[in-house]
Amino acid sequence: MYIVGEEEIEAVTRVLREGKLFRYGIGGECDRFEARYADYLGVNHFALAASGSNALAAAMIAVGIGPGDEVLIPAHTYMATATSVLAVGAIPVIVDIDESITISPKAIEAAIGPRTRAVVPVHMWGAASDMDAIMDIAARRNLIVIEDACQGVGGGYKGKKFGSIGHIGAFSFNYYKNMTSGEGGGVSVNDDRLAKRARGAIDPCHFYWSGRDEEEKPFAGNGARATELMGAMLNVQLDRLDGMIAKMRSEKKRILAGTASLGNLGLKPAPMNSPDDDCSAQVMYTMPSIEAANRFVEIFPSVIAGKTGRHTYTEWDQVLIGAGAAHPAMNPYLMPENAECRKTYSKDMCAGSLDILGRTVMVATNPKHTDAEIDAMVHNIGVAARVVLGGMSMEEADLREVEGVDTQKFDITSREREAATLERKL
Ligand SMILES: Cc1ncc(COP(=O)(O)O)c(C=O)c1O
Repeated sequence: MYIVGEEEIEAVTRVLREGKLFRYGIGGECDRFEARYADYLGVNHFALAASGSNALAAAMIAVGIGPGDEVLIPAHTYMATATSVLAVGAIPVIVDIDESITISPKAIEAAIGPRTRAVVPVHMWGAASDMDAIMDIAARRNLIVIEDACQGVGGGYKGKKFGSIGHIGAFSFNYYKNMTSGEGGGVSVNDDRLAKRARGAIDPCHFYWSGRDEEEKPFAGNGARATELMGAMLNVQLDRLDGMIAKMRSEKKRILAGTASLGNLGLKPAPMNSPDDDCSAQVMYTMPSIEAANRFVEIFPSVIAGKTGRHTYTEWDQVLIGAGAAHPAMNPYLMPENAECRKTYSKDMCAGSLDILGRTVMVATNPKHTDAEIDAMVHNIGVAARVVLGGMSMEEADLREVEGVDTQKFDITSREREAATLERKL
């Protein structure tokens, strides 16, 4: 959560005072947000849902993914990318990332098998996946592209907004995202029929509220309807979004410019696929070694991408143990339709990704950072680089005290808990 102010309090209070908490036929906030956000993204439809996980599953249902299908997903993403594939009866196939810490197009191409139906590029930490290459592979190899833009709210790729490039997209508005309503999410799509199917997946009663449709028969979906409180809050958050992203982009540029000279010590910015369009929620450096990354974050409080405790395949317990559903009869790993899908995982299956993630240091930007704080951050990144990569002592390097600057966004777990998670035996 970046900024929640009086405007959000007023908007939510208004809905409460009026008692208009239900979206269909009573309130208008969700409808208004859906229209405005679709327009913002440049798509024909946006369907709100209760969470990003629900939105991802609804997107999979909309495009018809199901038992017998493999879906390629990156080795580094929140586990809901994998569990949403399982939720629709299909099998997630885990694919390497590259130094942009998003899915590697080369690895996608290499991973395509006879059962592969779709690929999920995830715009991880707001950084863009290589969408030109991915869309090209998808066109040549007949794959559906489901963009996981849950972490990419407000960002884009080469002039287009995330969630508008693939065949369908999913967003999250949970507490940690660039726009938040506490929890929430939604599906972005151009195709009218896919939009109807997504809405049907989000709300099994959708056809009742919006009118029955002779062409699109209903199916049993799970309830994930948005509340008007969510819509009210998101309408305010949307007004803030571009200003916030602009500030984060400018902070990222200043930090990169201010630390460019440290390149000769080996402090290398991670290669980004669309640096001027992405969310710029982090400045990422690819360190020469895992040891260097570990020492760097001890001196400059920042986050190692591979150590967040929940964003790497080694931490997706349910996937690794083959628990694809609560009931064995609904478990995609046990379904006869999936007999020919690849279902074997191991903790070292994407060793190259683990190496990259262990070497990638993320410095969080924040629209609330002041110029003085950014200058101090640049100075202290330099200190950490000179000590870790240049062999200087801390005294020589001149660390400055910076009070209260949050450079560890998303790293909500303590180091101890992360370590315990990584150590845990499955
Ligand atoms: C990449 C990614 N996909 C999916 C989700 C799921 O979103 P939610 O937490 O709203 O269910 C998240 C949320 O953290 C995410 O980061």
